[in-house]
Amino acid sequence: MDTVLIIGAGAAGSVTAQKCAMNRDVFKTIHLASRRIESCDKVAKRCKGKIHTHQVDADNVAATVKLIKATKPDLVINMALPYQDLPIMDACLETGVHYMDTANYEPRDVAKFEYSWQWKYQSKYKKAGIMAILGCGFDPGQSNIYCAYAQEFLFDEIETIDIVDCNDGSHGKAFATNFNPEINLREVTQRGKYWKDGKWIDIDPLSINCMVDFPEVGPRKSYLIYHEEEESLVKNIKGLKQIRFWMTFSDNYIKHLDVLQNVGMTRIDPVMYKGNPVIPMEFLKELLPPPSSLGANYTGKTSIGVIFTGTGKNGKPRRTMIYNVCEHKDCYKETGAQAVSYTTGVPPVVGAMMLFKGHWGPKAGVYNVEQLPSKPFMDEIGKQGLPWHVFDLKKTDQKDLFKVET
Ligand SMILES: NC(=O)c1ccc[n+]([C@@H]2O[C@H](COP(=O)([O-])OP(=O)(O)OC[C@H]3O[C@@H](n4cnc5c(N)ncnc54)[C@H](OP(=O)(O)O)[C@@H]3O)[C@@H](O)[C@H]2O)c1
Repeated sequence: MDTVLIIGAGAAGSVTAQKCAMNRDVFKTIHLASRRIESCDKVAKRCKGKIHTHQVDADNVAATVKLIKATKPDLVINMALPYQDLPIMDACLETGVHYMDTANYEPRDVAKFEYSWQWKYQSKYKKAGIMAILGCGFDPGQSNIYCAYAQEFLFDEIETIDIVDCNDGSHGKAFATNFNPEINLREVTQRGKYWKDGKWIDIDPLSINCMVDFPEVGPRKSYLIYHEEEESLVKNIKGLKQIRFWMTFSDNYIKHLDVLQNVGMTRIDPVMYKGNPVIPMEFLKELLPPPSSLGANYTGKTSIGVIFTGTGKNGKPRRTMIYNVCEHKDCYKETGAQAVSYTTGVPPVVGAMMLFKGHWGPKAGVYNVEQLPSKPFMDEIGKQGLPWHVFDLKKTDQKDLFKVET
């Protein structure tokens, strides 16, 4: 296995293509396809050596099947949008090619993301003898793999998981989102939820916050939101009693979000304008800076990690954090991308390496990444630009976070 087809030449897909091109010992042939050929050609100019570029509308299964037949990849990495997950999975089924993505399927008309649609492909993928690797970005992705690693190597039993995600960078724009604006705004405007004692608990959007102390950044106000990896982690981490996801948003981001919501600009249902149906969220996306344009003057860091409590391997209570920190300007220097695109675009490259080198099978069926061996991934990811660190928390660490009654 040495040939990859990446679909989606946006902010994160650009990083994935460039990083594959930096690892020619594994990826001998690289194809990049996107809705607009210009997007691919721009990325190809940044890649080491030749990559092949193609135009495809991945909503169209027949068009993707045709492309897969022409390019003969061993793996399709879906770096387009969650809307394309199912059509690309269908095209992989039809052609017998392995599949990977970084975000779970969302229907366009409901802002709801869950794995049920993709998990339904389990028996079809098993029967076809191909593998689907779901959620191999940073969060989901790296965050799930930190959990798998903690479960196997650090804990006898994990009781609670808090995934904490901070972008402490500044892009200098009045308002912008760090990944696809439509997907980002759909994520943060939906109701929040977390999981405790076997039940999902629903909360109003952004209604719970606390200060989380982020490594190399410091304490930052963080909001409890729902994030898709929680759905698979509650199934795959044994003995888990609670899982929550926290993300930082600046006051400026919240202010803009409030106004946009209040005036109806985040609606995803059609509104008639001069006789034509317009979806306000889709129109808003056209007005906002694309995430791929934010890198140039981005300063600051991302600090993303997972905080675990439970029983350590020695039978004693343990509180431990695993995390990664990235500098926006270093990511930009290496790939022309800001750190959010970088942290999303690198893990699928390492996931593809795991598959091609035999560490992750291939095993027929549909897998979330925490179901696959964590150690070889953790051994490689630091070398590819996302080094990770582990430390045990002192009693006084993350006091605010542990104080939140949920
Ligand atoms: N797991 C994580 O950590 C994580 C974090 C952030 C984002 N993500 C996910 O990463 C993905 C990419 O995000 P991004 O920030 O790179 O967004 P982006 O810059 O908007 O890129 C998305 C790309 O998808 C392409 N595309 C859209 N519809 C398509 C279609 N029908 N057929 C072919 N290509 C299509 C677009 O192509 P053109 O440019 O050619 O029009 C665009 O360049 C999203 O699914 C997002 O949810 C995951």
